[in-house]
Amino acid sequence: RVNLSRISAVAAESSSPVFQDPLKRAVAKKAVELVKPGMIVGLGTGSTASMAIEELGKLIGAGKVKDIQAVATSYQARVLARQFGVKTVDLNDVNVIDIAFDGADEVDGQMNVIKGGGAAHTMEKVVNTMAKKTVILVDQSKVVPQLGLTFPVPVEVLPFAISPVLRSLVDLGGEPEIRSALRKDGPVITDLGNMVVDVRFPGGIKDPAELERRINMIPGVVENGLFIGIVQTVLVATKDAEETLII
Ligand code: 5RP
Repeated sequence: RVNLSRISAVAAESSSPVFQDPLKRAVAKKAVELVKPGMIVGLGTGSTASMAIEELGKLIGAGKVKDIQAVATSYQARVLARQFGVKTVDLNDVNVIDIAFDGADEVDGQMNVIKGGGAAHTMEKVVNTMAKKTVILVDQSKVVPQLGLTFPVPVEVLPFAISPVLRSLVDLGGEPEIRSALRKDGPVITDLGNMVVDVRFPGGIKDPAELERRINMIPGVVENGLFIGIVQTVLVATKDAEETLII
């Protein structure tokens, strides 16, 4: 279980990017130490996972780990892997993923996670579920006592079904909002060609496993960002050291 009291003591201070970037780098470096020669590695999406891809590339470049193949969870991860010299293969060409690294938007004390801030949670869930070991990399600002109090649940939705899905999400007690692109007046479209709806649940999420199941039962929903029982390890970088808490 996570030592929440220790983490929350410095969490407010750590939520600025000035603090976060070195923390993300520290946790990314620590994570890639878990990679052994010959492994098939899942590559997550987002700024923290990108640092892990870069650090993995450095290890490979220095000859410290050999024969690594990687499965990317997004175009972003695939492009970065190529840039940093990490060989990628198609998910359907491998039977197993030995270890997957990924970031998260929120993590609770049971290692349940909200993901999808980068709109890649559908492919991330496939890869993370397939991995023998999924390692989540976060700075301490992401560790929360209860999921959903601050971050909404991202839901990938078929554009064809956007209106009925929005209504069903309201029926579940949610406050859905279609995610829009920053500079264009239009919706974010995922790598899989779908829309993303961010759903706030006022008062937080009481039963994350049940909510994950109920959202995915809505016709037109592709996948939601609640990752329940999927994660085996969480590495939390704390401000007061390169120290990494291993949950
Ligand atoms: C992408 C994700 C990301 O891992 C999550 O949003 C965390 O991103 P960052 O490391 O940039 O804070 O789930 O879909």
